Amino acid sequence: MRVGIVHDSPVPTLSSRQLMLAFMKRGVESVYLRISRLSMVIDEGGAKVIYGSEEGVSTDSLIIRSLGFIATLEQIFRRVDTLKHLELSGTLIINPIDSMLRARDKYASIITLNAVGIKVPATAVVEDVFTAVELCRRWGDVVIKPMMGSMGYGSIKTSDPDIVFTVAKTWLTHGQPIYMQKYVPKPDRDIRVFVVGDEVLGAYYRYAPKGCWKTNIAQGAKAVKIEKIDDELVEMSLKAVKTLKLHYAGIDIGEGEDGYVVFEVNAAPQWSGFMSATGINPAEKIAEYVIKLLKG
Ligand SMILES: Nc1ncnc2c1ncn2[C@@H]1O[C@H](COP(=O)(O)OP(=O)(O)O)[C@@H](O)[C@H]1O
Ligand SMILES: [Mg+2]
Repeated sequence: MRVGIVHDSPVPTLSSRQLMLAFMKRGVESVYLRISRLSMVIDEGGAKVIYGSEEGVSTDSLIIRSLGFIATLEQIFRRVDTLKHLELSGTLIINPIDSMLRARDKYASIITLNAVGIKVPATAVVEDVFTAVELCRRWGDVVIKPMMGSMGYGSIKTSDPDIVFTVAKTWLTHGQPIYMQKYVPKPDRDIRVFVVGDEVLGAYYRYAPKGCWKTNIAQGAKAVKIEKIDDELVEMSLKAVKTLKLHYAGIDIGEGEDGYVVFEVNAAPQWSGFMSATGINPAEKIAEYVIKLLKG
């Protein structure tokens, strides 16, 4: 059994190293693979994926921690095609590439969750500046986020239609659609739940810094373990992960006035905040889970 950890950092990231260690402890060989060095080849030897100039990638499973920095549409197609090639040849890809892409596209995942009755914020994606302004007038406080952003960077909150106009106009000039949501009034915290397979590993509150509405650790939020996770939270998190066909995920949940609301589902979540709050290392659980699936 051989497992690959995929990222594009020149040196393995902390979570990649933790995964490799977790596999090593269980007697499973693992390799770190940079996604930009995985290549598809078709020649007289057949169709295969090679790593650098090495022949063939002989891994039973790949855990995709990142698709790397992507500047062009061509790059995303190439990287996705390479992973799909391996997936079609029988490699267990975690998370499945289609599910990963859907989770990365915030609107695609929100619409999928909404379709199965999971509560999400009122959301719109528009390419028309006047629609954006109208929605702000209708919704009051709105949040505008990068469609494929993360860690809270670039998101803004406003109730001023003129700010929406100027932001929308600028983003549209750069070919970026406007992803906007009604602001969900919530306490100064949100909830991050970590799921592996059918199990909720744990959850923690992320307390926003004073005066900040974003609760990302990268924005200075503090992680505090949730000692007793209620059934509704467990059910909602497991349903979200199942609906998006993910093997593991980090789910961001807000405590709205009418109950829990899912902000997003992260298909390759960071876990240092989770580890420091709960003392649980997801790498161990993921390794166990992957080995179990491979043993079938
Ligand atoms: N519509 C919203 N209403 C209230 N708070 C929000 C809303 N959208 C995002 N937030 C806050 O901002 C944080 C980051 O948003 P999120 O959608 O998870 O994007 P990112 O990919 O940047 O983490 C959320 O965890 C939540 O605390
Ligand atoms: Mg988030």
